[in-house]
This record gives sequence, C-alpha cells and structure tokens, in this order.
Amino acid sequence: MAKVKKAYFCRDCGYEAPKWLGKCPSCGAWNTFSEEVIARESATPSLAAASQIERSRPMRLDEIRESNHRRIDTGYSEVNRVLGGGLVPGSLVLLGGEPGIGKSTLSLQLALAENKLKTLYVSGEESAEQIRMRADRIGIRNEECMIYAETLLENIVTQIVEQKPDVVVIDSIQTIYSEILDSSAGSVSQIRECAATLLKYAKTTGTAIFIIGHITKDGTIAGPKILEHIVDVVLQFEGDSNNCYRILRGIKNRFGATFEIGVFEMLDNGLRSVENPSEILLSHYEEPLSGIAVGASADGLRPYLIEVQALVSNAAYGTPQRSTTGFDSRRMNMLLAVLEKRVGMKMFQKDVFLNFAGGFKVADTGLDLAVVAAVISSYFDRPLSEGVCLAGEMGLSGEIRPAPRTEQRISEAARLGFRRIIVSGYITKSLKAPKGIEIVAINSIAELPKAMFME
Ligand code: TYD
Ligand code: MG
Repeated sequence: MAKVKKAYFCRDCGYEAPKWLGKCPSCGAWNTFSEEVIARESATPSLAAASQIERSRPMRLDEIRESNHRRIDTGYSEVNRVLGGGLVPGSLVLLGGEPGIGKSTLSLQLALAENKLKTLYVSGEESAEQIRMRADRIGIRNEECMIYAETLLENIVTQIVEQKPDVVVIDSIQTIYSEILDSSAGSVSQIRECAATLLKYAKTTGTAIFIIGHITKDGTIAGPKILEHIVDVVLQFEGDSNNCYRILRGIKNRFGATFEIGVFEMLDNGLRSVENPSEILLSHYEEPLSGIAVGASADGLRPYLIEVQALVSNAAYGTPQRSTTGFDSRRMNMLLAVLEKRVGMKMFQKDVFLNFAGGFKVADTGLDLAVVAAVISSYFDRPLSEGVCLAGEMGLSGEIRPAPRTEQRISEAARLGFRRIIVSGYITKSLKAPKGIEIVAINSIAELPKAMFME
C-alpha cells in the first residue's frame, strides 16, 4: 500500500500546517483549513529525468547570458506594453479574469500571432475542435502553433520537453492536475504543485509560460494566494461584460512597472488592440449636453481623455440615491460633500448617478475635477462650454491640486483638438501650453463654475 502524506492548507492564503487549525496564523482567517493529500510515496515519477534539467550553479553577474534580457514581441503592442516592453523568455505569467471576459481568446490570439514563434496552447477546458472553431473566427494563422487538449501535468510537461516551444499557454491552471497528488484538479495542493512544476520548466528551458487563472466573486484569483507569489507577472483582464472594451492591467511584474494598461476591443473576430483609447472614450454630440464633462486622465505612461456623465435629480425619498459605475463611490460622496460645503449646492436633496464611458474603471484622482464639473453641469442643467476638458484633484477644503503628469494630459487634450483645459493653479508657472490650447488655472472649487461655463 502506498503511504499517503496529508497536510492542512488555508484556503485563503495557502498556509500549510500539519494539523487542523481553527484560525490561520498567517492571514488570521477563521475556519479556512482543509485537508489535502500532498503525496503518495510510491508514485513519485522521475520528472527530473524527463526534463534533463541542467544542474545550476551560482554565477557572477557578467557570466549570466545576456539573452535573459531579450524581449519577445508578442505580436500585440498592448500586451507588450503591459509586460513592460515584451515577453521575457523563461517568465511565468498569470493571466486572471472573470469567466467570459476573453482570457482564452486573448491567449489563443497570442499563440496564433504571426511572430514566427513556436507556441503550444494547452487547453483543459475546451476540446481541440472548439479551439479550431475559435481560431477560424479569429482568422489568423501561425503554422508553428500546436493545440493540445490535455489536463494531466505530466503529459503536458513531456510535450513541452519534446516540442520545445518558445511560448506555452495553460488554459487554465484550475483544470490541470498532477498524478502524484490524490486531490482533485483546482485544489490548493494541485494548483501549487502544477504552478511550481511549470515554473521549474520555464526557468530551466527558457520557455515563457502563460497560466490562465479564474477569478472568484470577490475579485481574487481562485486558488491560493501563493500562485501570485510563484509567478513573475500577474496580469488581470477586466471589463464590463455588457461592453466591448477590455483592460489588461499589470498587478505584479518582475520585469517592469505595473502601472501600464492595455486596452482591447472585443469584436466578432476576436480582440483588437486599441492603441488610441481617447478615440473610443469620447462621444460626439450634435450639440452640447448638460451633465457631461471630459477628463484628461493618465494610466501608466499613456494619457487619454474620457467622458464622465452625471445625472443629478431631486431625491424622491428621504435618503438620496448615489450610484457610480467605474468610479469609487466613496470618493464621489466625498466630492459631493465638498460641493455641499464649499459651493453651497444642496446635494443632500439630490440623487446622483455617475458613469464613465465604455464601462471603464478608473482610479485616477486627477479625474476629480471632471466628475465635479459633470455634477455641477447636471445640477444647473447647463452644458460646459465647448472644447473644454479638465484635469485636477480636489482636496477636502475644496482646493484644486495638480494631477500627476499634468503636462502629458494637456498635450493629449491639445492633440485631440480641445481648446481649453482647466487645471490646478499650483503648477501652471512651470507649464508650457502646447499650440492651440488655453490653460485655465483655478485654485479652488469655487472658481470652477465660472471657468467651465466661460465663453
Ligand atoms: P473567452 O475567451 O472564452 O473567455 P474566458 O476564457 O475568459 O472565459 O471569451 C468568451 C467571450 O468572448 C464569449 O462570450 C464570446 C466572446 N467572443 C467574441 O465576442 N468574439 C470572438 O471572436 C470570440 C472568440 C469570443
Ligand atoms: Mg476560457
């Protein structure tokens, strides 16, 4: 009889303990421990032999091969951007996202991209025929792309060793399992084991591996947090499923910065990179409407303009309704409180609804001014003057503070043909206005109505 080794793992953080615990000593969560079989002694296959892993030894910095810093062009500029300039050989990239958001589509497109790379697309969720159908829809071909419908880790690894691809996609980590463990696919111990094995292969063979991970309702990648620690890069694919825009966001990146975003549009023939987000985030109206303001935002190094819509109406019931999409509702409440106190607008009698174009989620405080301007415009039912946009942060006493990278926001606004931009007065001395755009500087919220309705 094979000897079975068991351990207990915290479902939230992956903490391992030899016996059951009520409270996790690592993350403090209660009642999260579950029993997992971690190994059967008789059934340890010789994985190492199959992989011919070269013995590693410590090296001096100048001995380390330069090729480790080479970047692979994924064929998609938006993906390259989020990865920090391309895919690093030997890196393990976790791609997370809600079901149906387009993770499989994106990774299949990466595998099929015409960049002369040998790719292996492993699917544990769909059959080879289904993938073929999807590939036909997407309509791009890479002769070097292999499709493999398999869930057993040992078989996958054997194929990676045999085929020697440059890029591997595992769709998804929750469906693959190793036969050395008794627990079912998707359990903490399986995810740990599979990810650790893939990491080993990525590092020793220089293969870049994308792992797809599902996201639970509370927004974390299903399975242990430990997955995020193992991988080099964590990307999140997000967006409103009712909307066609998707954002690829870097959450962790060992090879670059994490503030870059990639923007995609889901079409009927797959995902298309959106290199110029401003164009999709601005609508064009025949005549100016009240409640609409354009904010100059900056995510990462790239500035873009986005439309904010607000609706302020008389509250029908005692407690006014406040609802936002794409913007932090607590931040909106704070902005409304400042309007009430500093401008004397009677927000406590008003319902306020706030929307960002394209279902975009924004966390940029530089959009405060645009949000406030949209609210003021709807409150007085008066459109902003034409060709005006805004960039600035608002403080609790109604002071207008500079938004990070204001200069880039101004250039983007000028590029898109805006004639005037309202910014904080605390930085304008150092700012040079690009041709064709006028900079209006304000220091406090009280000056905003005049600036936004100025003819
Ligand atoms: P999918 O990549 O299967 O999502 P995930 O792997 O994250 O669960 O994408 C599923 C959605 O994308 C599906 O609802 C259909 C839509 N879609 C398109 O709109 N156009 C396309 O070309 C493809 C392939 C999918
Ligand atoms: Mg999928």
